[in-house]
Amino acid sequence: MTSQQDKSRARRRRLVLALASACLVAFALLLALLHDPAAAGEAATSAAYRAELAIALEAPDWIIGEKLSAQYECNACHMEGDGSTAPLFAGLADAAATRREQLDAEQYLYEAIVFPSAHLVDGYTDAMPNNYADRLSPTEIGDLIAYLKTFHAEA
Ligand code: HEC
Repeated sequence: MTSQQDKSRARRRRLVLALASACLVAFALLLALLHDPAAAGEAATSAAYRAELAIALEAPDWIIGEKLSAQYECNACHMEGDGSTAPLFAGLADAAATRREQLDAEQYLYEAIVFPSAHLVDGYTDAMPNNYADRLSPTEIGDLIAYLKTFHAEA
């Protein structure tokens, strides 16, 4: 075997190795994307939201939602203060339908609670806790959505 053949074989081996690691990195990135709730929220279709919402909104009770809003500190960021920490709930019932073209009001509110990082309201940072999906039951999320839908602009 000539040294020329040796060299080209080594080159081929390096090329195969480089390709294999590139594939691995691409695969890892894909996995990370699939497991990132923000990315999942972004990719979710309104059909997916409708299915989950159907469960959440079987018998929503806004009065329970109002209590949950105090209990889970939604009010601390969204009701108290001047709206610089978080958008105030005032007017949200009407604004919710206009925030995201592909989501109706209830779908948007659901996404805002369950995947807060999927979409940020203009002018705000990604400061909302992103663990409410673990802390609240689907029924409680439905109650909160019903409560948020009581905030009309003129109220
Ligand atoms: C630590 C502060 C904080 C807490 C606690 C918090 N949020 Fe938020 N929330 C934010 C911020 C900041 C935004 C704006 C950025 C964004 O869109 O995620 C936001 C956005 C939202 C929006 C979208 C509002 C709009 O005008 O479109 C909804 C709905 C919402 N939060 C509901 C809730 C509910 C319900 C709770 C309690 C279960 C809660 N938040 C708790 C900080 C908070």
